[in-house]
Amino acid sequence: MGKKIGVFVAWPYASGDRHVGHVAGAYLPPDIFARYHRLRGNDVIMVSGSDSHGTPITIAAKQEGVSPEELFLRYHSRFLDSFMELGLSFDLFTHTDTENHHRVAQDMFIKLQENGYIFQDVMKQLYCEQEDRYLPDRYVEGTCPLCGYDNARGDQCDNCGHPLDATELIEPRCKFDGTTPVVRETEHFFLDLPAFAERLTDWLEDKDYWRPNVLNFTKNMLRDGLRPRPITRDMKWGIDVPVEGYEDKCIYVWFEAVIGYLSASIEWAKNVGHPERWREWWQQPARGYHFIGKDNIPFHAIIWPAMLMGYGDLNLPYDVPANEYLNLEGQKLSVSRKLAVWLPEYLSRYDPDPLRYYLTVNAPENRDTDFSWYDFWRKNNDELLAAWGNLAHRVLTFTYRNFDQQVPEPGELTDEDQAILQKVEDAFEPVGDLIGAAHFKAALAEVMAVAHEANRYLDEKEPWKVIKENHQAAATTMYVMIGVLNSFKILFYPFLPFTSQKLHECLGCEGSLMGQSRIETFEEDGKTHDALVYDPPTADASWAPSSLPAGHALNNPEPLFKKLDESMVEEELARLG
Ligand code: MF3
Ligand code: ZN
Repeated sequence: MGKKIGVFVAWPYASGDRHVGHVAGAYLPPDIFARYHRLRGNDVIMVSGSDSHGTPITIAAKQEGVSPEELFLRYHSRFLDSFMELGLSFDLFTHTDTENHHRVAQDMFIKLQENGYIFQDVMKQLYCEQEDRYLPDRYVEGTCPLCGYDNARGDQCDNCGHPLDATELIEPRCKFDGTTPVVRETEHFFLDLPAFAERLTDWLEDKDYWRPNVLNFTKNMLRDGLRPRPITRDMKWGIDVPVEGYEDKCIYVWFEAVIGYLSASIEWAKNVGHPERWREWWQQPARGYHFIGKDNIPFHAIIWPAMLMGYGDLNLPYDVPANEYLNLEGQKLSVSRKLAVWLPEYLSRYDPDPLRYYLTVNAPENRDTDFSWYDFWRKNNDELLAAWGNLAHRVLTFTYRNFDQQVPEPGELTDEDQAILQKVEDAFEPVGDLIGAAHFKAALAEVMAVAHEANRYLDEKEPWKVIKENHQAAATTMYVMIGVLNSFKILFYPFLPFTSQKLHECLGCEGSLMGQSRIETFEEDGKTHDALVYDPPTADASWAPSSLPAGHALNNPEPLFKKLDESMVEEELARLG
């Protein structure tokens, strides 16, 4: 029986396109993970959606002079396109402005209140006298009281990563008019985080398999002490607070966005016609993995687990494999300074798999890493193409041409033949274990190491020479290599699904290996919304080596990757400005 694996992906603010830093940090790793687990025969749901509320949306809408709804719908639709093109296999990628999400979020609010974990209090909030209104935390900037960074936002310091209350900022200023806001009192609901401190500490007890940076950050937060967190805001764009007298306020975006993991699981179950199935991932033995960037750690490793504890009867996260940051050409990626490689732009010029490859070998798993176009170009040509693409292409074209477009009949396998088949076979377990432990970079390095072995084997066998005097020996080599390719198709698949699919077809195999993402329109109480859904693979494939029998018909070979000209490096650098 398959294990239940929840692949929960950070909900991107639909306030602007995603860039390669977001992809490396939060979106690509879960797809590798989900594709692997599906091949293992596990029951995967991979869900997320656009985060449509909060001040990131209202600020961007204000800057563009459109409504928050118009803005988020535009970016939501762009996310659907680019995530599909990148091959992200979301079972559901929805958004937080659905009826379902509003209902589930309000239900959790009410239940936490009933259980005594939410209370009312007055708080001090910054008020802009110029604009005559309370300023949401993100509308305020100033100096971080913890690390002294002078451009901290009111909700969080981007330098040291700590969540903040805007009133804690030293020398606060209004983001829009630069005036100094004044402190006023306003009534809000608070989540009683200190009530969970002990249970959170106990829960972390057995989490020694977490990434050390994530575990340390979380433990330090607990050691520093938790404070109650306000979970309502003085603004209109968001989910209504389900309490009378709160009509001018809404639920804080972070409080409801994390609930999206649950609400999207519920929406998915309804979509597939089994409305109770979400329980298999939330109320029965299952493992939930949260894929996020490091700035999201407090919300996923402290606040969301606390909310789940307070609600009761729901599974807590199993792992939070958060990533560090990806820099760009040695500089910090910056949305505001427009220093980024945007996903839709990348996809308009290049294939998805080279990016998936590059961002995996260069993943910021334990420390910040750098995206450089020169390095991208080199790794595309010298590693991906040279060690893998060319290997596949050489074998396919040689076999297709010399052996009647089919897998040749082998003679007796030599020791070297057995050895290379054995090496490939032996790779499945360690590579699988590494992927399962969210060590994607190491996993791909293992696969590449075996690809180098296969190159060595082929170069030593020299079938292009041998065939002239010993047709049978060359046939045996190619039979072995076709088996090797058929296994590599699986080993590379979680990382490089498009080219594995292509190889699958060249090898003359049936069905879809990579499955199909598509956009579907759902209707709910007379309102519609678009979401990404995923039709699982139809090919007969699993996480195991397999060969193709002699006589099996091959298809016309096609190269898996394109060689990139060095001029692309200059072109791309010029685009960065
Ligand atoms: N919208 C947030 C961001 O882009 C992430 C939210 S993750 C969630 O940083 F779990 F809260 F949804
Ligand atoms: Zn700081």
